[in-house]
Amino acid sequence: MNLTVAEKIIKDHLKIGELKTGKEIGLKIDQTLTQDSTGTMAYLQFEAMGVDRVKTKKSVAYIDHNMLQAGPENADDHLYIQTVAKKHGIYFSKPGNGICHQVHLERFGVPGQTLLGSDSHTPTGGGIGMLAIGAGGLDVAVAMAGGEYFITMPEIVKVELRGKLKAGVSAKDIILEVLRRYKVKGGINKIFEYCGEGIKYLTVPERATITNMGAELGATTSIFPSDENTYEFLKAQGREEDFREIVADKGAYYNEEIIIDLDKLEPLIACPHSPDNVVPLSSMENIKVNQVAIGSCTNSSYMDLMKVAEILDGKTIAENVSLVISPGSKQVLNMLANNGALGKLIAAGARILECGCGPCIGMGQAPNTDGISLRTFNRNFKGRSGTVSANVYLVSPEVAAVSALTGYITNPEGYIDDLNIDMPEKFNINDNLILEPAEVDNDIEILRGPNIKPFPKNNPLGKEIVGKVLIKVEDNITTDHIMPSNAKLLPYRSNIPYLADHCLTPCDPEFPKRAKEYGGGIILGGHNYGQGSSREHAALAPLYLGIKAVIAKSFARIHKQNLINNGILPLVFQNEKEYEDVDVLDELIIENILEQINGDTITIKNKTKGKEYKLLLEVEERQREMLEAGGLLNLIKAKNR
Ligand code: F3S
Repeated sequence: MNLTVAEKIIKDHLKIGELKTGKEIGLKIDQTLTQDSTGTMAYLQFEAMGVDRVKTKKSVAYIDHNMLQAGPENADDHLYIQTVAKKHGIYFSKPGNGICHQVHLERFGVPGQTLLGSDSHTPTGGGIGMLAIGAGGLDVAVAMAGGEYFITMPEIVKVELRGKLKAGVSAKDIILEVLRRYKVKGGINKIFEYCGEGIKYLTVPERATITNMGAELGATTSIFPSDENTYEFLKAQGREEDFREIVADKGAYYNEEIIIDLDKLEPLIACPHSPDNVVPLSSMENIKVNQVAIGSCTNSSYMDLMKVAEILDGKTIAENVSLVISPGSKQVLNMLANNGALGKLIAAGARILECGCGPCIGMGQAPNTDGISLRTFNRNFKGRSGTVSANVYLVSPEVAAVSALTGYITNPEGYIDDLNIDMPEKFNINDNLILEPAEVDNDIEILRGPNIKPFPKNNPLGKEIVGKVLIKVEDNITTDHIMPSNAKLLPYRSNIPYLADHCLTPCDPEFPKRAKEYGGGIILGGHNYGQGSSREHAALAPLYLGIKAVIAKSFARIHKQNLINNGILPLVFQNEKEYEDVDVLDELIIENILEQINGDTITIKNKTKGKEYKLLLEVEERQREMLEAGGLLNLIKAKNR
């Protein structure tokens, strides 16, 4: 059988199921990664499983999100993760070492292996030929304990890149073009596999920009072949022994095929407030800019920042612009410092932040009220920057740098010739901020500061579900809406009782109060409910508030799994028009739930309106068991009994 790159890796790791589109498969996971804002929960859950040592080939815990230490909370979380990692066989990347995806690509990614990460941008690893998938913390904890990771065998989309990018057009524009075509829901249950002559002009970090932002399509993941460019990157990282060639077989079957002519591609821009709101940059030129932010796991590689340094060299940023730059890793920052590029950035007026997520996750550098912020990041959801009234646009590093100089959104094509930044033959390799785990059978003490609170637990399903509709929300509600993430809340990622008071407040500030008043209930959602991140807190906070079910028109993949993992029913209207019929505080009942969840549809009664609706529970048998048990941890414990 002729296989695609993704199918080859899946076949190599298939523990349960077969390579049939739409069927559930269980994959063996070689590597895991966590970042600190999802990691504390993942490690608390890992501890709850009672497994002594991770069973993966390599697991890495990164600190990159919660870097502001305005109180002891973040530092306490870091120490907890550092000690729990050391004890259980996990590498620890210290704060300052960089953004998880950038560092993982540099120091750990291995072509042909599977990577599961508790961060939705884990598909960055697809740039180096890994099958890299984002998941909730509990799924990652299960993988660390040796369990399979389950997905629906996705459709594979062939993205053929033809020709070569013009000067001023970059890898970011390629993924913006895919987002323009597919939108934020267009990638659900799909893997985007890149090929064609155009890929030979893309280095691994450029490929990683594309696979990284493929997460915005809602895709399972995105992937490039592992070829000579992959070898060159690994060699430059001193890891050529990790190379393995993986290319698609001739005649491999793809469910869908698209072509992008790189020579014809123009610079693009994603307008507020969605990464798929993509238009030609030329149509947005001359908008005055208040802030330019360069960095994030999408665009903070050595080559990205070298381009920026060359554009800024000898010039000064515009009077109206605040330029902030967060390098992706210590390796990148160190190299810029050694070769003089950092001096060029500073001289031009850039504010250099530490190596981490920073403004991307709203940890500092919020724009001014009504501000226009131009960012090289991957998300521009309303309020994510920390300023609700700000308008955030997403662009390439070239556009960001040129616009920082002019003070207006500017097409770089007229300003720069071919920049010709080559990948270095050797990166600066210094892993002194990566701590190795302790030997087996150690007596490491795990340090738990007062911010580390137990996570909420669910009960097995009872006879019926009764509850009021506590909130009714529109389409495309993100995990940022469900569990906001900003500089004030991020320090409480290991403290669900505190966070729960902010759950869904961007949609309705009264929701947590109402949920507590009625002792829990039901959430009503539109299409693509829970899009955005892998943030498990978007399921844990509702669980803490007593949410038993979410009824929506459709769900985003990772969030749906997170709900199931926590024993919250993700139900879908059979007839989505009935959404209109249901109002906040309507009382809903699902009788005989244990019988009903085994049927094709579930009947729910609206006592307030005197009506009945049919709902679908689109889950696998395994997930049904999880829901019956009240979540994955309960199921694991019951099976181990
Ligand atoms: Fe961090 Fe933003 Fe990426 S929060 S992991 S830089 S999407």
